[in-house]
Amino acid sequence: MNTFHYQNGELFCEDVPVSQLAEEFGTPLWIYSKSAFLSRLKEIQDAFAEVDPVICYSVKANGNLSILKTMNDAGSSFDVVSGGELFRVQQAGADTSRVVFAGVGKTDDEIRQALKADILMFDVESEAELDAIAAIAEEVGCVGRVALRLNPDIDAKTHHKTTTGKKGNKFGMDIERATELADKVLKDDRLELTGIHMHLGSPILSTDPYAKAVKKGAEVITQLREKGHNTNWLNLGGGFGISYKTDEGPSAQTYADVIVPTIKEIGCRLALEPGRFIAGNAGVLISQIVFTKREGGKLFYIQDGGMTDLVRPAMYDSYHRVWPVKPAVPMPFDCEGEIEGCEPADVVGPVCESCDYFAKDRYLPPMERGDHLCMFSAGAYGSVMSSNYNARPRSAEILVDGSNYQVIRRRETYEELIALEQP
Ligand code: LLP
Repeated sequence: MNTFHYQNGELFCEDVPVSQLAEEFGTPLWIYSKSAFLSRLKEIQDAFAEVDPVICYSVKANGNLSILKTMNDAGSSFDVVSGGELFRVQQAGADTSRVVFAGVGKTDDEIRQALKADILMFDVESEAELDAIAAIAEEVGCVGRVALRLNPDIDAKTHHKTTTGKKGNKFGMDIERATELADKVLKDDRLELTGIHMHLGSPILSTDPYAKAVKKGAEVITQLREKGHNTNWLNLGGGFGISYKTDEGPSAQTYADVIVPTIKEIGCRLALEPGRFIAGNAGVLISQIVFTKREGGKLFYIQDGGMTDLVRPAMYDSYHRVWPVKPAVPMPFDCEGEIEGCEPADVVGPVCESCDYFAKDRYLPPMERGDHLCMFSAGAYGSVMSSNYNARPRSAEILVDGSNYQVIRRRETYEELIALEQP
């Protein structure tokens, strides 16, 4: 897929020069490729087509209304983790009867909102939550459809801050309790057990954790069926990895190859909650170099984008490829290590925190004040995690479609920064 590519010495998003967007809308600027979103969704739809899954795009990765509409029009459903995300999905005009709702701390109001929206199922994360859903379902006058979110104790070999399926993580309930919990649901006519849910972590670059999870999930479903439960859904969550560095991200087919056979064997429905796989490489963050300086024996490129825009490097030490929009040296396939014609530098933001950086000791072509820089693979967990720290307005978002583009979120103003406050 080549939705962000260099042509005649400058970066394009689809058919639009990125420098043109940076000039027109200013920086920092999020730029998304519509065809990148759609082709990644289609890759999953095609790879899993045999078992007709419900693909629930994970709203937390990038919940812009226009992106949600794009996903909805292409046949995706949604995974939400808050009343706010459910509201977004509703505002995007989606059919909420295919929405799944995870999260360890759903409030009564959020449960009520989801029951009224008649969502496909809650991914229930504690016994106390089962009780709450039952009580509120009775009050609303409906039955709460629930999937037990089970913690399978599988090491997804990802960052410790984004691992979710190991014993001791706050998510889900111990897999050994599945039968006891299912029996509780069966006895309660305010609830209906639709299936089980697992989400192992994010991003997961190997298929092994999924192979283990689908086996464990199938065992639980078989046991529950033997006990008379009509358990029909296995939701394997999200976590499919992407290429941040070179081409380390597996294809959807690679994941499907280890998941589909077991789903067919036990004959149940499959739900998936991909976020990063769809959004990650569909977006970039463009910044402008404000100053360059050499201090302490180091070269610094100080740019207008910072951790308030893209927090991933500060929060998880995440690697994002960084390269100029109009580079003096063509971007190599692998941007790590020494690169001819380049010099090691730190790319940092303006925020008053030492962790406000995008790259450290990275070989980069020579750049000057005013040049534009691209942070690649920023479409997932980028703008959604941005903040107003240091009273920095949130940046604008642009969606490119071929040679057309539109502002899908305009830049925040200073007035909006204080709009909710009383002097
Ligand atoms: N389903 C559940 C229940 C989740 O908790 C998540 C992500 C997903 C699906 C989607 O995972 P994905 O397909 O996007 O990997 N902020 C971190 C990632 C946190 C992921 C949280 N949960 C980052 O920037 O890497």
